[in-house]
Amino acid sequence: MALLTLTVNGEPRSADVKPGTTLLEFLHDYLAMTGTKCGCEEGTCGACTVHLEGRAIRSCMVTAESCAGKPVTTIEGLAAGNRLHAVQQAFLSFEAFQCGFCTPGMIMEAAALLNDRKPLTDGRVRLYMEGHVCRCGAYNDIVKAVMSAAAELRKDAGNE
Ligand code: FES
Ligand code: FES
Repeated sequence: MALLTLTVNGEPRSADVKPGTTLLEFLHDYLAMTGTKCGCEEGTCGACTVHLEGRAIRSCMVTAESCAGKPVTTIEGLAAGNRLHAVQQAFLSFEAFQCGFCTPGMIMEAAALLNDRKPLTDGRVRLYMEGHVCRCGAYNDIVKAVMSAAAELRKDAGNE
């Protein structure tokens, strides 16, 4: 075991971890940040998606140690204080989930996609989100939510 400290949602968070611990295990098991979900643990479902230096990654596919010195953002850190991120708000407004298991990963992936504020099409959203599995089949509402969040963010940017 070795003490590892990562910057998670802007705060230093430490745990004694065994060698080879994945970022998913560090967050979910050691820090009890259960918003990041454990699905396949082989990079194919997207449930464990978080941001590493602002980019969406599958946290089951990287070691926690390799993330030292790089900011990690999880679903718990996406809102700005009491204000939900536009993607979180849109998922709520469109009820873009049923059981909610895939939702944190979907939201983190979409939030990273929308960072560039480029115009989107339904097709581009579907392509980008293709690697995320929703066992409940909420895909149509998820695409609607992402498109709506993109429009909100563009509106906000226009008002800045
Ligand atoms: S748990 Fe990481 S991609 Fe499925
Ligand atoms: S809402 Fe249940 S897995 Fe997507």
